[in-house]
Amino acid sequence: MKWYVPLAAACVFLSACGGPSGTSGEPEAAATPPAEPTGVLNVYSARHYDSDKELYKRFEAETGIQVRFRESGAAELLEAMKAEGDKSPADVIISSDAGTLYRFKAAGLMQPIESDVLLERIPEHFRDPDHNWYGLAKRLRVIVYDPTRVEPEQVDEYADLASANFEGEVCMRSSTNIYNLSLMGELIDRLGKDTAEAWARSVVANFARPPQGGDTGQIEAIAAGQCSVALVNHYYWVRMTQGSDAQRKSVEKTMLSFPQQDSWGAHVNVTGAGVAAHAPHKEAAIQFIEWLATEEGQFLLTTETKEIPLVAGAEMPEGLDRLPPDFKESVFSLNKLGENQAEAQAIYDRAGWN
Ligand SMILES: [Fe+2]
Repeated sequence: MKWYVPLAAACVFLSACGGPSGTSGEPEAAATPPAEPTGVLNVYSARHYDSDKELYKRFEAETGIQVRFRESGAAELLEAMKAEGDKSPADVIISSDAGTLYRFKAAGLMQPIESDVLLERIPEHFRDPDHNWYGLAKRLRVIVYDPTRVEPEQVDEYADLASANFEGEVCMRSSTNIYNLSLMGELIDRLGKDTAEAWARSVVANFARPPQGGDTGQIEAIAAGQCSVALVNHYYWVRMTQGSDAQRKSVEKTMLSFPQQDSWGAHVNVTGAGVAAHAPHKEAAIQFIEWLATEEGQFLLTTETKEIPLVAGAEMPEGLDRLPPDFKESVFSLNKLGENQAEAQAIYDRAGWN
């Protein structure tokens, strides 16, 4: 866990903070004197991307507002904020899961913000109806498959993963992973608890191996012939298309299917942000979240992660042209992902999806 790393100090340790090549031995600050500090912003983030440090640095350079960030797991941040109470220094909370944002809201750790900029730029179903959090980038949880063993029409619904056709052919990561919990959070609502649980049980019956690894690991397992279908967030697949030779070789043996195109659409989730309930720097917090919804903020948020910008007209990260040009995504009340999270875990546990 990192606790309050001022950017200037963080960049001493993080190679990603330097210029694109990192070849110059001269500190960047020598070339561009930092703006005179005009304020402070404390960010609590459940994201872990080096590119976010670059993003904070850019905001700092443009506004003079010094960004201090704390990166940790969502549960840890939530408990920390509860313990800090109204003395919490947190201004902005960032998470790459809407269910998690909901949990901060439900715990009274966020406050509503009225921002015309955000209301105009962020589509309604990607923000909290009570304006506690705003989605800023989106991610789709889709099916990855081996096209030499699976026809596209065999994987055009999440239900297909439960088909007896795929006995011994399904790879999955753990159910404790938030991406799987949030997918189940939607399935509970769409299908009902009983059908969602029956689906989980049948998927478990098809496992090629016990749940393990991350999303990238599922793609690699398919490429290695250990299984022929799995679930992944789209951006892991896209990143691999631009990764090492080994990653590119693996990913090119697989294809993505965006499920539910004839029904409700592929499961979508967001990276989003909200203002902390007791934010000491509320104005700076709103300014920062609004900045993330600018062309530049959207670019910095998504260019490395390969998430999809939420603001209309924002530049698409390189590599996203490998996704289908047009796909249907679910329009769903994302707070339900949080409301259903405990039930989702209980269902996976009963189904034996560890
Ligand atoms: Fe991720």
